[in-house]
Amino acid sequence: MMKMRESATSRCYDLWSKFYDYTFGALVHKRQIRALEELRPSPGDRVLDIGVGTGMTLRHYPDNIKVVGLDLSAGMLRKAVDKIRDDNLRHCQVIQADAMFPPFAEQSFDHIIISHTVSVVSDPPKLMRWAQRLVKPGGRVIVLNHFQSNNKPVALVEKVVNPICVKVGWRSDLSLEEALEGVDLKVLYRFKMSLVDLWQIVVLTDRESAESA
Ligand SMILES: C[S@@+](CC[C@H](N)C(=O)[O-])C[C@H]1O[C@@H](n2cnc3c(N)ncnc32)[C@H](O)[C@@H]1O
Repeated sequence: MMKMRESATSRCYDLWSKFYDYTFGALVHKRQIRALEELRPSPGDRVLDIGVGTGMTLRHYPDNIKVVGLDLSAGMLRKAVDKIRDDNLRHCQVIQADAMFPPFAEQSFDHIIISHTVSVVSDPPKLMRWAQRLVKPGGRVIVLNHFQSNNKPVALVEKVVNPICVKVGWRSDLSLEEALEGVDLKVLYRFKMSLVDLWQIVVLTDRESAESA
């Protein structure tokens, strides 16, 4: 099975950063904003955006919360910093770090969003376990991503094209079940923006809060 490696990913996205907003970013921008709506933060909340990339979502967060964007790629983060400066987004900050080893204490964030990043890291369940540890009880973890189809012929195509996808920066064969292996978060609900959408928005929370919801 072909997997992602952080060392190659960082170089790959440094390159992507030069045209991301006009290509893949433009294609998925409406979905990014729809996923943000699922966070439902309260004033004063701290939100972690893992794999914030070029920061296309930053200007869409309410300015009465604190947003921390984390990313591996210096190139992607430079674009995010430009947006923070140009739009005077004082409630947003970004840091360069590897989400496989996030530099935060447990339960540091009220909510977490992982947009088009769970299939980019080398170990998706590890990322999701970190999300579980970093979010406060009752907080939401929103995952926007493409997941392998349940339809066998489509899943086969996703497997066949995976080596090419890995070369350009993501896996096409990650299933939601694999991403959530050993993760103590529960899916509250998930949806696609249209019937034939390739991406889905998954809303998770801790088991106890899910059971009392
Ligand atoms: C496809 S982009 C998604 C950017 C943005 N969230 C979006 O929805 O458009 C994936 C991002 O994840 C970042 N990334 C990949 N692996 C990472 C890791 N281990 N730690 C932190 N960021 C990572 C990449 O540098 C890239 O900016």
